Amino acid sequence: MAKAKIIYTCRECGAGFPKWSGQCGDCGAWNTLEESVASASAGSGSSRRGNWAGTASAEVVNLGEVRPEDASKRLSSGLSELDRVLGGGLVPGSVVLLGGDPGIGKSTLLLQAQSALAGERGSLYVTGEESAAQVAMRARRLGLDPAQLNCLTETSLEVILATAARHAPAFLVVDSIQTVWTEALQSAPGAVAQVRECAARLVQFAKQTGCAVVLVGHVTKEGALAGPRVLEHMVDAVLYFESDSGSRYRLIRAVKNRFGAANELGVFAMTGTGLKPVANPSAIFLSGAETPAAGSCVLVTREGTRPLMVEVQALVAPSTLSNPRRVAVGIDQNRLALLLAVMNRHAGIQVGDQDVFVNVAGGIRVGETASDLAIALALQSSLREKPLPKGLVAFGEIGLAGELRPVYNGEERLREAAGQGFTEALLPEGNRKGVKARITARGCTTLAQALASVREG
Ligand code: TYD
Ligand code: MG
Repeated sequence: MAKAKIIYTCRECGAGFPKWSGQCGDCGAWNTLEESVASASAGSGSSRRGNWAGTASAEVVNLGEVRPEDASKRLSSGLSELDRVLGGGLVPGSVVLLGGDPGIGKSTLLLQAQSALAGERGSLYVTGEESAAQVAMRARRLGLDPAQLNCLTETSLEVILATAARHAPAFLVVDSIQTVWTEALQSAPGAVAQVRECAARLVQFAKQTGCAVVLVGHVTKEGALAGPRVLEHMVDAVLYFESDSGSRYRLIRAVKNRFGAANELGVFAMTGTGLKPVANPSAIFLSGAETPAAGSCVLVTREGTRPLMVEVQALVAPSTLSNPRRVAVGIDQNRLALLLAVMNRHAGIQVGDQDVFVNVAGGIRVGETASDLAIALALQSSLREKPLPKGLVAFGEIGLAGELRPVYNGEERLREAAGQGFTEALLPEGNRKGVKARITARGCTTLAQALASVREG
């Protein structure tokens, strides 16, 4: 096989050069040239100049004649929560990228999925990080039948693809994409160009053979997937493992999914025998304290396609700093600043000389604006050192004018709260109309009104 031609492409402007240099000769940017494989057809050729005579044409597909993907064709991983995050199971021919901190359980999860997905065509677990003995030991510990699992310890992309083509598995795991390297490039494994090229070839393999591929990706200190951002564009789904340090619960979130809801959340518990799906996750994010504590408020958020109850905790305490601290864990720091400003302007709550800490219990991240009201209530409760009434939940978005805005799926959230034993809900007036859930719903139109209503009890 002829060696592929290597060119150096500028990350900023896309100009290509035969040699590496510190500065792009085209746009003048520094340190932007990256090694990549030149594709034979790019740029040159007659098609550019409007002469199509020598180029073979391709078939155009009429979408009306394409049979929609059969849902029953999805492969079940045997783990209900993983299937949920994937939108109902793995789609044949799709590529999923699974990212997460070291030791969070990526290899464990995929090994567990492996045995369920073996099916008639079998599955293949490619690892560049562990020896076959280590994988076999883990499989035994997980109570899986090692005879069902095929493992390949290899890091060369060419060997991996050739082996996979021979075995034609229905499911292929590459653990991890950062350890795989191709002969076509000279850079070291894990380099941006290597990761991108190897991923692109694996995506191509998946599409051509109908094999479902899962790539494990390392994350950087900042929590983003190591390697190029383009990796996220290339694959069909991107899943992230999240966890509170020290907690035994593991959350898998779909940040992108071409075959299901984005932001879907799967919850697992790490046990002595691997990851176990948690069917009723609402229960684990609530502290379960008999008497409510000051500064704590329960809210119903909606992650993906299901409601989830979480507890926000706030601590407001006098500060000795000239610039009091604003710390947000599990919610957006800017959102907290915005809420404090609205509370100040529209509800007369001043915390300018106080340190403010907000934390979402259980290590979960809440990105929804529906959490605004609960955060505001928790802040007020901490400031006044008065707990909120027992059995109260709250949700609603707060606008800059101090108004309370309705949120989607109000009824569903209330039903979840009622099901978890909550008796009263504080919510935007727009969400109160037509409530059928068995819970006392108190609607408010402004933040000031909502804050006052709990002050009065
Ligand atoms: P692992 O899957 O190796 O993590 P990753 O591939 O994301 O780096 O998970 C290893 C951790 O999980 C390790 O700290 C031990 C723990 N663990 C259990 O608690 N129970 C188990 O049954 C297994 C296999 C691992
Ligand atoms: Mg691992």
